[in-house]
Amino acid sequence: MNILIKGLNDERFGRPLQLISDLFFEESFVTFEEEKEAEYKIHFAIKTDDKVSVEGTISENGNEKAFSASFENKFEEESEKEHFKMVKRAVSYVYLMLLQHVTEIEQPWGILTGIRPTKLLHNKLREGMTKEQAHEELRRDYLITDEKIQLMQRIVDRQLSIVPDLYALKKEVSIYIGIPFCPTKCAYCTFPAYAINGRQGSVDSFLGGLHYEMRKVGAWLTEQNIPITTIYYGGGTPTSITAREMDMLYEEMYEAFPNLKSVREVTVEAGRPDTISEDKLDVLNKWNIDRISINPQSYTQETLKAIGRHHTVEETIDKFHLARSLGMKNINMDLIIGLPGEGTAEFQHTLGETKKLLPESLTVHTLSFKRASEMTKNKQRYRVADRDEITEMMKMAENWTNENGYEPYYLYRQKNILGNLENVGYAFKGQESIYNIMIMEEQQSIIGLGCGASSKFVDPTTGKITRFANPKDPKSYNDSYEHYTNEKIRLLHELFDRK
Ligand SMILES: C[S@@+](CC[C@H](N)C(=O)[O-])C[C@H]1O[C@@H](n2cnc3c(N)ncnc32)[C@H](O)[C@@H]1O
Ligand code: SF4
Repeated sequence: MNILIKGLNDERFGRPLQLISDLFFEESFVTFEEEKEAEYKIHFAIKTDDKVSVEGTISENGNEKAFSASFENKFEEESEKEHFKMVKRAVSYVYLMLLQHVTEIEQPWGILTGIRPTKLLHNKLREGMTKEQAHEELRRDYLITDEKIQLMQRIVDRQLSIVPDLYALKKEVSIYIGIPFCPTKCAYCTFPAYAINGRQGSVDSFLGGLHYEMRKVGAWLTEQNIPITTIYYGGGTPTSITAREMDMLYEEMYEAFPNLKSVREVTVEAGRPDTISEDKLDVLNKWNIDRISINPQSYTQETLKAIGRHHTVEETIDKFHLARSLGMKNINMDLIIGLPGEGTAEFQHTLGETKKLLPESLTVHTLSFKRASEMTKNKQRYRVADRDEITEMMKMAENWTNENGYEPYYLYRQKNILGNLENVGYAFKGQESIYNIMIMEEQQSIIGLGCGASSKFVDPTTGKITRFANPKDPKSYNDSYEHYTNEKIRLLHELFDRK
């Protein structure tokens, strides 16, 4: 579907308007060119003096019965950049109002299309605003609903009680370690995940590179006296390698990194139940891993088959009990709402099974159609629930976690996420993952080691973020890990030497 825009003569409007259109329509194309056939025509009129005022009119299929909306705001800052930001927000606001009117869909997150809503609230509070002032701005400038604002505040409060020094952790770092192998590739997934079978040569070389990165970066942190807050092993599936390989890797972690005793949390995302065994759990225990994930995604067998997860529901439950019986005290489980063929009945069943296990934390994702995934490439083969049913399932998760003693503690949004909703991490009090808070709130640097690991360098003085990504596939990683390690150390020098 085409949406023709008139009255805007700055191409910088293209992207924000496209992102907002994507909230409403599966496939839409925002165009500024008259020659295209357009279902919707939108005329904007912008006036700027000491304030910005935007008026917009929408007509559907040439229908004269147009609807108008307007927005006005006073400029507060002088720079061109800040001016444009306000004009963009005003245009987005009017655009959202127009599309809400014609589609009759209310967007719970308003014009906010970013990944980290809670970071926005943290920033406002850090700047010294009261909660009331911050909420008012979120409502007024972004059209976020009260329900979502309350959720954001609840999460921000929770995070600050778990990590009271959150805003002072800039001079520490967290570490992410990416292991790019899995037993099979799931249909929705775009993470670096290569089927491990028959790849021992590739695993050996990869681990050689990873040990090198850990030693080098660990030596630099030790030399500079920079503490590590948290360490997270993800991927892929970090338990798809053998128990012996895991043992050597964690030994390396203790040898290479400074002062492991003061690290607040080490998580290993075991993830796929079919990779978990007694000997691997023994290794995790031997090295005092605090937290693991065992991810059901769903408790319906047909769903697991449809998404290419080659394990049974029973195996998820058995491995959970095995981990518990061997002393794992903090287990997380990931669920996905809106998997193919699933509606409220299947999700109710999943919640019922979760109740029998009560993991310490539960992360509830909403299915996202990621561009490069098998599922997106063959979208017509997968039948998924509609917007209303997704919203209902989200509500079910919220109520269920509330009734069972879980608190929401982190939240993020993605593009192409069903129902334009969010992913929420819930946990029993005191069992939250500190790493998840670090990655979402961007208050400190995270150094990514291994395949597909991306590093995020947060300047301790300005808060400016620089990203740096390691290669995604094991072959390129093996060819170039030394170069990537050196680059990271160079960036770290730049960041921390200026203190
Ligand atoms: C890094 S992934 C993989 C973890 C682990 N390998 C596993 O599959 O259990 C972390 C989580 O993101 C979620 N996830 C991955 N792709 C997704 C998608 N396209 N839509 C929604 N959730 C997704 C899944 O719940 C998954 O457990
Ligand atoms: S096991 Fe996890 S990382 Fe691997 S393909 Fe499936 S979702 Fe992706």
